Amino acid sequence: MSQRSRALPRRSCLSVPGSSERFLSKALSIPADMSFLDLEDSVAPSEKIEARSKVVSAIRDQSWDDRVLCVRVNAWDTAWTYGDVVEVVSQAGERLDEVMLPKVQRAADVIALDLLLTQVEKNAGLPVGHIGIEAQIETTQGLIQVEEICAASPRLETIVFGPADFAASMEMPVLTGGVQISEYPGDHFHYVFSKILMAGRAHGLQVIDGPYLKVRDGEGLADYCRRTATLGFDGKWALHPDQVTIINEIYSPTQELFDRAWSILDAYERATESDGRGAVMFGDEMIDEASRKMALKFLARGTRAGLRRSS
Ligand code: GLV
Ligand code: MG
Repeated sequence: MSQRSRALPRRSCLSVPGSSERFLSKALSIPADMSFLDLEDSVAPSEKIEARSKVVSAIRDQSWDDRVLCVRVNAWDTAWTYGDVVEVVSQAGERLDEVMLPKVQRAADVIALDLLLTQVEKNAGLPVGHIGIEAQIETTQGLIQVEEICAASPRLETIVFGPADFAASMEMPVLTGGVQISEYPGDHFHYVFSKILMAGRAHGLQVIDGPYLKVRDGEGLADYCRRTATLGFDGKWALHPDQVTIINEIYSPTQELFDRAWSILDAYERATESDGRGAVMFGDEMIDEASRKMALKFLARGTRAGLRRSS
């Protein structure tokens, strides 16, 4: 299933607290591309152990659609990581696609998880390599090491920015991470977004932005989605059903751009295959091989979002 989920869309990635049976069963009705059942920061320390079996039951007993299904375990600097992985992965069955590792600081954190997963898969009778990995970059160390982290394991499917922990790690003078800082002339995370995006793409990973914590501020969320969607990110976390709707829309190409991408491909194919030309005019602009690559990305994203070419 790691192969299955690798290419699936992750426009909206819904965070579901693993200690809440109510939220675990509600997650099914929320049309997110991905749901991750959380054992980390949305679960109180006193509930950590019990949450594991709730998460396992939710994965096994609920009939999930074809969305990406992930469990976020606790970070390596806690006492819970190996227990989370062993208990959840060995009991969840084949429907679990991925494990998300928070606060990844160095490539070795991912390698350690990869090795542990291999043993758990062997003992649980799962195909080796079945479980994919999502790595969260949310500390200064993690950002400095992001290129090595993205290359650390063939299990890696996505790299995820965690703005709240990152703001804390940077000691930014803010009390809410991942929202606009009006005093700052620009986007205080622009460098971070670009660095993570480049590292992820260089290794063929999907790249995801983390939560927008002001859950009632739809305008602010839309603004933040546009920033990362415009840079090239694949999606963003959702903490509430209303956020899913906004995120799905902004991370999908419009029908107009989807149709234009098709027309560019047609024109380029005619030019190269029938006329033997590498570059050709398309309306008032010149298109060439780079235009084909850009158009293909629109088609892939649009198709994943359910668009069809207008007749
Ligand atoms: C997410 O985990 C974050 O810290 O923003
Ligand atoms: Mg975090």
